[in-house]
Amino acid sequence: MASDTARPVALVTGCSSGIGVRCVPALVRRGFHVVATLRDLGRRAALDEVTDEHVTVLRLDVTDPRTIDEAVAAVLAATGRIDVLVNNAGTAPPNFVEEAPLAQWRSVFETNLFGQVAVTNAVLPTMRAQGRGRVVMVSSVGGRAPTPLLGVYCASKFALEGYAETLRLELRHSGIDVAVVEPGSYRTRIYDTPLLHAPVPVDSPYADDFVRLRAFYRDYIAHHLRDPDEVADLVAALAARPRRRLRHPVGTDAWIKLALHTLLPWPAYERLTRRLIGLRP
Ligand SMILES: NC(=O)c1ccc[n+]([C@@H]2O[C@H](COP(=O)([O-])OP(=O)(O)OC[C@H]3O[C@@H](n4cnc5c(N)ncnc54)[C@H](OP(=O)(O)O)[C@@H]3O)[C@@H](O)[C@H]2O)c1
Repeated sequence: MASDTARPVALVTGCSSGIGVRCVPALVRRGFHVVATLRDLGRRAALDEVTDEHVTVLRLDVTDPRTIDEAVAAVLAATGRIDVLVNNAGTAPPNFVEEAPLAQWRSVFETNLFGQVAVTNAVLPTMRAQGRGRVVMVSSVGGRAPTPLLGVYCASKFALEGYAETLRLELRHSGIDVAVVEPGSYRTRIYDTPLLHAPVPVDSPYADDFVRLRAFYRDYIAHHLRDPDEVADLVAALAARPRRRLRHPVGTDAWIKLALHTLLPWPAYERLTRRLIGLRP
């Protein structure tokens, strides 16, 4: 990788698409040299459209410690610094929690939780030696208010929120800042799911709910997803200047959902949520 030590260095995971790829130009505009990482270099077409001399592309699979170590070592060899980590890589296969195989639970947690822990642990010693650094975790509004059919994903984001909150408390006097971004619903590949075209499961106690939820999600995805640049701009702003708050919801839908979840008594919240997504209240 070319050295560009005049600029602070931001390492971003999951840059093949979606929020990750949008973070790259947003961070460059904020004055960073961006190390844009992805697990499969063959999937870099979208990234190539936004790269310039302030971007280095490296392979990093958050579930593969060897690629994490190699990427961090390459950055340090070239620039000697890592100022910001954006933990963005994530996956969200839909399923009813009862029907999700344990292998699916494990694979989602491997990426959304253990992957973020592994990459964070790989950069913290450098940030500590520098006496400063910022870690931005891309969580989800689902990390505080779950949605049916996305329960495995939401559980992994709940765990991520607990991890981030603890990390922030433990790093209080280290000069390293931790922030959590909680997006609502944004138009990315995460919604390109076979769910929308899946056949109704036979013999499932959830068959009726599945039909209703599929109709809800089809309509929601077609009409209500937001522009992921909104999230990328917030990530870049947090990377450039830390704020006192730990959690940063983004998107009107996220703010409304969190307000309802916080303010309504549970029975009212449950009835309203089920009605809004097409289930029997
Ligand atoms: N879109 C939303 O509405 C929304 C809402 C809340 C939170 N989020 C969060 O935003 C983050 C980005 O998601 P997105 O919406 O931009 O979806 P996306 O377009 O599907 O992007 C996900 C990215 O994560 C990468 N990834 C998955 N597993 C990985 C691994 N093991 N190692 C490295 N990279 C891996 C994917 O790479 P491949 O191309 O190789 O699969 C892809 O680049 C996720 O953490 C997600 O939970 C999104």
